[in-house]
Amino acid sequence: MANESETKKKKNTSASEEAKAPLKKEALGWMEWLRGWFYLVYEMLFQRILASHLHNPMPLPPINDLTCIVTGSTSGIGREIARQLAEAGAHVVMAVRSTNRAQELIRKWQEDWSGKGLPLNIEVCCLSFQSSTKYEAWNVRMAPLHVLINNAGIFSIGEPQKFSKDGYEEHMQVNHLAPAMLSILLLPSLIRGSPSRIVNVNSTMHYVGFVDPEDMNVVSGKRKYTSVVGYGGSKLAQIMFSSVLHKRLPAETGISVVCNTPGIVLTNVARDLPQYLQVGYRLIPYFIFNPEERSRSTLFAATDPQISEYCEMLKADDWPVCAYISHDCRPTNASEEAHNVETSYKVWEKTLELVGLPSDAVERLIEGEEIINPDMEIPSSNPSTCLLLSACTGSDCIYYPHNLAFNKVVIPSILLCS
Ligand SMILES: NC(=O)c1ccc[n+]([C@@H]2O[C@H](COP(=O)([O-])OP(=O)(O)OC[C@H]3O[C@@H](n4cnc5c(N)ncnc54)[C@H](OP(=O)(O)O)[C@@H]3O)[C@@H](O)[C@H]2O)c1
Repeated sequence: MANESETKKKKNTSASEEAKAPLKKEALGWMEWLRGWFYLVYEMLFQRILASHLHNPMPLPPINDLTCIVTGSTSGIGREIARQLAEAGAHVVMAVRSTNRAQELIRKWQEDWSGKGLPLNIEVCCLSFQSSTKYEAWNVRMAPLHVLINNAGIFSIGEPQKFSKDGYEEHMQVNHLAPAMLSILLLPSLIRGSPSRIVNVNSTMHYVGFVDPEDMNVVSGKRKYTSVVGYGGSKLAQIMFSSVLHKRLPAETGISVVCNTPGIVLTNVARDLPQYLQVGYRLIPYFIFNPEERSRSTLFAATDPQISEYCEMLKADDWPVCAYISHDCRPTNASEEAHNVETSYKVWEKTLELVGLPSDAVERLIEGEEIINPDMEIPSSNPSTCLLLSACTGSDCIYYPHNLAFNKVVIPSILLCS
C-alpha cells in the first residue's frame, strides 16, 4: 500500500513538473510569423527610400592592408563585393566553386581597371559548400586574414526538399553548416589578422524562419518542408550560431562576428522562381536594389571602423546576440526567435556535431591547439605549395591536415583546384 501511494505521489509530482516545464516550441507563433512577413514586405517596398541617405557606390575607408575572403563571388552580391573591395585596394580571395569563371572575371576587372590605379590584388580559391564539409582535410595559410565574408548561399524557391552528399538539407548545408565550419576553421588566420571580422550575408527571411535543433534537416514530419522553411531556417540558424560564436570569442581575439541583410536583390538566387514570378520580379526594378546598392550593407559590415566597437559593446551584454546590420547599413534587431538563447546554444552544439568539430573547437583554436579529426585522410601531396581553404572535392585538390599548416609549413600560395 505504502509503495502504491508513493508511486502515485511520484506520478503526480512528475505530472505537475511536466505541467510546469515550458512546452517545447515547435514553430513560430502566428504573431511572430506575421511580423516576419510584414518586415519582408516593408523591406521590399521601402528599401530604396530607407537607404536613400547612402552613397552609391559606397565609399570605403582605406583597406589596402586587408586580406578579405569572399565566398560565392562569381555571381550576384558576392561578385560585386569582391570587385569593389579589390578596387578599393584590398587583397581579395575569391572562394568559389567555379574557378574558371572567377579567373575570367578577374581578367575582365583588371582590363576595366587598367590605368585607374595599381593592378587589382585578387586570387582564386576553390570552395564547394555542397560537397562533404565533413571529415575532409583543410588548411589555412600562415598569413593573416582580416575579413571573411560568408556570402555563398542558395534559395531554391519552390523546389522540393533536396539533400547534400552529406545527407543534410541543402539550404542548411550551404547557407549555415558550411560557412559555420569555415568560420571556425579560419579562426587562427583571423586571430593573426586581428582586429578582424566574420561577416555573414544573411537575409530578412530569417524573420519567418524557425529552427528545431533536433530536426535541423526538417525530416521528422513535425513541420512540412517548403523552400521558405528551408531557407528561413538556415538563415536563422546562421544568426543563432553566430551569436554564440560572438559570445565565445573573448574580446582579446579582436574578432567581430556580424550578420547582415543585403536587401531584396535581383540575382541568380531567383533563378529557380517559377517563370510567372520571375516576370513579376523583373517588373519591379524600382523596388529592387541594383548591383552597387545590393553590396552596400555587406561592404559596410566588412569595413566600417565602428563595427568592431559595436560588437565589443554587444559582447559585454548578457544577451548573446551578434550584430545585425540592415540593408540600409544600420545596426538593427534580428528576429525575436534569434534572441532565443536556449535554442541558440542548442543550434551551436548541433552544428558542431554535424560538421564534425569538437564542442570546444573555438577554445582550443584560440589556445593554439590542434583540432585534428582522426578520420581525416592525410594525403601524400606536397604540402608546401598550396592552401586548401575548405572542402574541395576535385580530384586534383591537395588535402593536408591543418596541424601541418599551423605548426610546420609556411604556405606561399593558394590552392587552385579546377
Ligand atoms: N538576392 C536576394 O534578394 C538576397 C536577399 C537576402 C540575402 N541574400 C543572400 O545573399 C547571398 C548571395 O546571394 P545572391 O543573391 O548574390 O545569389 P547568387 O547570385 O545565386 O550567388 C550565390 C553565390 O553562392 C555560390 N554558391 C551557391 N551554392 C554554392 C555551393 N554549394 N558551394 C559554393 N558556392 C555556392 C554561387 O556560386 P555559382 O556562381 O557557382 O553558382 C554564387 O556565387 C546569399 O547568402 C543569399 O542568401 C540574397
